[in-house]
Amino acid sequence: MYLKKKKSWEISELSVTDESYFRNRRSFVSSLGKSALMFSLYPSFSLASYQTTNKLNKKYLLPLPYTSEKLATTYTNFYEFGSSKNIWRRASKLKVDNWSVKIDGLVKKKKTFDVDGLKKLIDFEERIYRFRCVEGWAMVVPWFGFSVSKILNIVDPDKDANYVRFETFYDPKIAPGQKQSWYPWPYVEGITIEEAKNDLAFFATGMYGKDIPNQNGAPLRLVLPWKYGFKSIKSIVKITFTKEKPIGLWEKLAPKEYGFWANVNPNVPHPRWSQSKEQLLGTNEFQKTQIYNGYEENVSYLYSKLSRQEKLKLFR
Ligand code: MTE
Repeated sequence: MYLKKKKSWEISELSVTDESYFRNRRSFVSSLGKSALMFSLYPSFSLASYQTTNKLNKKYLLPLPYTSEKLATTYTNFYEFGSSKNIWRRASKLKVDNWSVKIDGLVKKKKTFDVDGLKKLIDFEERIYRFRCVEGWAMVVPWFGFSVSKILNIVDPDKDANYVRFETFYDPKIAPGQKQSWYPWPYVEGITIEEAKNDLAFFATGMYGKDIPNQNGAPLRLVLPWKYGFKSIKSIVKITFTKEKPIGLWEKLAPKEYGFWANVNPNVPHPRWSQSKEQLLGTNEFQKTQIYNGYEENVSYLYSKLSRQEKLKLFR
C-alpha cells in the first residue's frame, strides 16, 4: 500500500499453490481457450482440497480454482500487525473470544452483538468470491458469513443515514503496528447505504469451512468483492450509520492514491502502477483485471446516478 515503491506485480513472497482446486473445471478450461500454457499454473488442480459446505450460495459460483487456503491465510495485509505480508503468526495475539460489535449512529435500534449471537438471528451462508487487492494480486476465496443487508434489516437505519462507517479494534499492546503513529489508527472504512444494501456486500466470519483466522480479520470482517481489498476492513468492533461520508485510513493517509469508492477498474491506473492486470495468488501468470472485478452486472446500477465529478473518482 502506501509505503511500497515496487510495481504491483513484483510479488516476491509468492510461492506456487499447493492445493488449487477447480470449482467448475469444464467451464474454466473452456474459458482458458487457446492458452494451454495456463495449465502449468495449477499443478495439482485435479485434487479437491476443499469441499464446499451445504450452505453454499450457488448464485455466486465462479469458473475459477480456489486460491490455496495456505496462501490465502499466510499472505495477508493487516497493518495493525506490521506492514509485511507475513504477519500471520503475530496476529495470533488477537483475542477474539467475547468479541462484541457495536452498531450505533443513525438507526432506530442500536445494538451490540457477538458473533454467536448473530448466528442465532441470521442464517449464515457460504459465498465464493473473487478478491482483488489494489497492489495487483488477486485470489478466489470461499467465505462464510452473511449479507450486510441482514444487519440493516435488524437495526433499521434512519432516512438520513447515507453511509455506513466500519472501525477496527485499537490496542497497540497486542497490535505493534498501532504503535506507528504516522498511521491514523484505528483502521476505518466506509460505504454508502445503497452499497451496503447490495447483496454482494458481505460480512465474513469464516473461510475455507473454518472460523476465519485472526490474520484474515477474525472474528468479523467486511468483504466487498467489486472494490479493491483495502475497503474490506478486518476485525470490526464498531459499525456506525452516518449522514456524512466517512474517511478511511488510507484515504486520510494518501488521498491522491486511495479514495472513498475504490471500485476495481483496469483502465484507471493507481498513480504509481497500472491496474490493467492482476496476478492470481499462487501462479506466475497475469490475467486481465475486470471492471468491478467481474461484478459489473451486480453493481453498476449503484453508480449510474452519480455526478460527473463523483464518477471520475469511482475507481480510486
Ligand atoms: N483491515 C484492517 N483492519 N487492517 C488492514 O491492514 N488491510 C486491507 C484489508 N483490510 C487491512 C484491512 C487490505 S490492504 C487488503 S488487500 C485486505 O484486507 C487483505 O485481506 P486478506 O489479508 O484477508 O487477503
